[in-house]
Amino acid sequence: MDTRINKIAALANLSAYDEDGSSSYIDGAPHIKHRSLRILYGQLVIQVFDRARKYNKIPVVLDLGAGEGSVTLPFLELGAKVVAVDSSASQLKTLQSKCERFGDMLEIRCEDVHEILKNKQVKYDIVVANSFLHHVPDYLTMIKEATTILNPHGQFFSFQDPLRYDSLGKFTMLFSTLVYFWWRGFRGDLIGGVKRRIRRARGIYLEGSVHDNAEYHVTRNGVDQVAICRLLDESGFDCEILPYFSAHSYIFQPIGAALNLKNTFGVIAQDRANRQE
Ligand SMILES: C[S@@+](CC[C@H](N)C(=O)[O-])C[C@H]1O[C@@H](n2cnc3c(N)ncnc32)[C@H](O)[C@@H]1O
Repeated sequence: MDTRINKIAALANLSAYDEDGSSSYIDGAPHIKHRSLRILYGQLVIQVFDRARKYNKIPVVLDLGAGEGSVTLPFLELGAKVVAVDSSASQLKTLQSKCERFGDMLEIRCEDVHEILKNKQVKYDIVVANSFLHHVPDYLTMIKEATTILNPHGQFFSFQDPLRYDSLGKFTMLFSTLVYFWWRGFRGDLIGGVKRRIRRARGIYLEGSVHDNAEYHVTRNGVDQVAICRLLDESGFDCEILPYFSAHSYIFQPIGAALNLKNTFGVIAQDRANRQE
């Protein structure tokens, strides 16, 4: 096993646990909460970084929706330069305090990701969207934009988005929903949660509702992995969809994984025209 993985997995955890207020984030972030997912994530980060380093000694990473730094910190640790973008100043403040020691290797931008994607003059070796696509209503256009600011050998990398719900088997969907309610039951507002679910099942989404819009595609039909792969393929990228199981509950995470269920996915895509592998 690559000796860097444990360190990278631990950093993803640290990036969410360190500060006040982070414990509530981690509770709702399975990719940081569960060691098995942190290990998987660490392996992918290293894979993407090592591939990028073949083309550029110091790969430049654009971290979209950087949050508290669970992408930024591991990539900095591996030796990349990172531009971290998030619209939340408080999230970025936490990220900055965790990554201070990396000095010039880190640039922090507090703005909407759509703004930074407009600038076609600056190119990156890796664009990452970690636990982020499900927040963006038109994520396909955003990914398309991301491909236009990648260097010729560039990679698009994402992790922790819900697979499109109507592509899951019935049992996986039922198991995932029950596990979610099990976890939700210990968080208060169970009745509010059930009411929201019933409303959405009837196709009613409220425009002004934070619950309906913050995690836009979690509350709708998940994220369309097939459409993403098609888009990346048509844009000249080799695309790999990496499905896995993810749940909020400590008890049901290993059970779902042992049952080999898949409800969540990552993407690694690399510019095909310039591939040298
Ligand atoms: C679930 S968090 C993911 C954080 C981090 N990437 C991770 O994996 O832990 C999503 C982040 O996206 C940010 N965000 C949502 N929409 C955004 C937008 N349009 N532009 C910039 N940041 C956005 C939120 O502020 C939040 O920090």
